[in-house]
Amino acid sequence: MEQVAFFDTKPYDKEWFVKLNPGFKFKFHEHKLTADSAGLAAGCKAVVAFVNDTLDRETIDRLCEIGVKLIAMRCSGYNNVDIKYAKGRIDIVRVPTYSPYAVAEHAMALLLTLNRKIHKASNRTRDFNFSLNGLTGFDLHGKTAGIIGTGQIGCIFMNICKGFGMETVAYDPYPKENSGINYVPLDELFARSDIISLHCPLTSDTRYIINEKSIKKMKGGVYIINTSRGQLIDSDALVRFLKERKIGGAGLDVYEEETAFFFEDYSSTVIDDDVLSILVSMPNVLMTSHQAFLTEEALQKIAEVTIFNLKQFFNGEELTNKVEYSK
Ligand code: NAI
Repeated sequence: MEQVAFFDTKPYDKEWFVKLNPGFKFKFHEHKLTADSAGLAAGCKAVVAFVNDTLDRETIDRLCEIGVKLIAMRCSGYNNVDIKYAKGRIDIVRVPTYSPYAVAEHAMALLLTLNRKIHKASNRTRDFNFSLNGLTGFDLHGKTAGIIGTGQIGCIFMNICKGFGMETVAYDPYPKENSGINYVPLDELFARSDIISLHCPLTSDTRYIINEKSIKKMKGGVYIINTSRGQLIDSDALVRFLKERKIGGAGLDVYEEETAFFFEDYSSTVIDDDVLSILVSMPNVLMTSHQAFLTEEALQKIAEVTIFNLKQFFNGEELTNKVEYSK
């Protein structure tokens, strides 16, 4: 029976894989995949990894040494995989799309909750505090949303914004032709947007696309929503401008140093990350733990496509969802 080692697996990850398993032996590990934990995949030809696993040179070497031939990412992003180093050593596949709606809807949930302070209101009413002081938000209707990256998720988020009666502007170096999308240069997007939502991948071009210089070009009180990747934002600059109120609010599903913390319970620990501690404690920041993907539909699709990828690999077929370094 073909064996597959899963890393960073939580109960909600396993459910659909167990239900849809066509007969592989799945070995679920809670540990994140790193060079140190790679040995847990001994006896497996394939590993299944996730967004916060560390697939650097060292881990890839360890996996190759124990005979692993496939890294199946159960996500769409693969910025945590050294694909250049992996080329010719080990194959990489991913799930190119599972539910762009899940992520776009979560981005809007962050914006609505943050703006209308629903999280605070909920805490208050649970305590029979029915005061409205400090809960004032603003109408989204008529405001301008700037969308960076008009792929699947960005376009769905844009349509949701339109449904709220918002104006939309967008930036993407690869604009969709005849789409009716109102593309503008990035600086114009910064200058015009009341809300900026990030939907581009993390690449060397997009790392810290939100930084001190770009924030200075934005409107005072701008809201920033990030459901893409943490390193799109320079967190030190974000904290500084949130403090100065240049940035009105930030809705963050991702954080640049999330690997060390996200998906785990640190509620009884003093965490060793001052920037994260400040962000979590700020009244105008709302943070979730990389959960934008977390819907039933997305989990089912992730399992279906990953199992399809594994079947192709074990049958020696061409890998439809292969990711390869190509520069
Ligand atoms: P996609 O590949 O459909 O779209 C990405 C878009 O970004 C493309 O249109 C591309 O041209 C554009 N882009 C590339 N370089 C750019 C740049 N320098 N500036 C602006 N735009 C640029 O990807 P999709 O499915 O829409 O996902 C977007 C991102 O969402 C992923 O890269 C991933 O990081 C993140 N994501 C987050 C999840 C979560 O749970 N928080 C779950 C799934 C994806």
